[in-house]
Amino acid sequence: MKRHLISAADLTRDDAVLILDTAEEMARVADRPIKKLPTLRGRTVVNLFFEDSTRTRISFEAAAKRLSADVINFSAKGSSVSKGESLKDTALTLEAMGADAVVIRHGASGAPYRLATSGWIDGAVVNAGDGTHEHPTQALLDAFTMRRRLVGADAGTGRDLDGRRITIVGDVLHSRVARSNVHLLHTLGAEVTLVAPPTLVPIGVEQWPCEVSYDRDSVLPKSDAVMMLRVQRERMNAAFFPTEREYSRRYGLDGDRMARMPEHAIVMHPGPMNRGMEITAQVADSDRCTAVEQVANGVSTRMAVLYLLLGGNESAISPTPARTEESK
Ligand code: NCD
Repeated sequence: MKRHLISAADLTRDDAVLILDTAEEMARVADRPIKKLPTLRGRTVVNLFFEDSTRTRISFEAAAKRLSADVINFSAKGSSVSKGESLKDTALTLEAMGADAVVIRHGASGAPYRLATSGWIDGAVVNAGDGTHEHPTQALLDAFTMRRRLVGADAGTGRDLDGRRITIVGDVLHSRVARSNVHLLHTLGAEVTLVAPPTLVPIGVEQWPCEVSYDRDSVLPKSDAVMMLRVQRERMNAAFFPTEREYSRRYGLDGDRMARMPEHAIVMHPGPMNRGMEITAQVADSDRCTAVEQVANGVSTRMAVLYLLLGGNESAISPTPARTEESK
């Protein structure tokens, strides 16, 4: 595996499967009376968030803490960034504090890459979402959720998502989640179809390893998982569809449409959800919707990523808590 996690497209199939299998081991820690591993004791993880976040930030924080790392949370609001400090000076400050890993979310596509290749810091860089570019740990936690829900206890062969049909619906143009998912799911052998209004399909999508359809209703009955995306108004500088009502009618998911999906198929959403827009409350609250599970799985997946990037190369956890004590 590379030293940083910037893009899902950088992951080989073996890398991705190693992360997912390690995440499965990490998830088992949550079932123990003491939900903590000593693995990253003495290491420092900095969460550097230049953009708003609820799930991703607390998920990385929980993941680092469960591995016993020291965690520093930095949010641009209320820091010297609002006084005009550059990414470089912020990075040099973090380096001076001895950060072993920097988890960065930034509004500019490419900011994590810049940080990883600049030489400003020595630690591992993890992309927690950059502009409209990528969000690799979200794609990993989504794949983990699909493996668990669609394959269940038998998952872990490395070919679990082979031939599975995954449909991603909504604002693909502004979605780093969609981009990362397309790359990762393709690497894992799944068949991805994007469904979006023509105005919200990115230029150059022909080069992506997926299909594009404008006909939601013909794709849903053939899907094993349907991932609904939020309409990212904060990134829009023009009118991409006539009205919210029209968008919701043509691209949203309601109970009737969900009923046309195969019985085993799941509905996914990275959050935050706009109920009534891309998803109705009935669908969001149904057993088939994995939004809350995705959040829980995010902690295990990010534990696996931090563990592997910070040097773990054996089985992440010893078979029994007693062995864990010994290996401290
Ligand atoms: C996504 C993001 O920030 O890209 N959310 C997340 O990380 N859970 C998607 C979104 O904001 O709609």
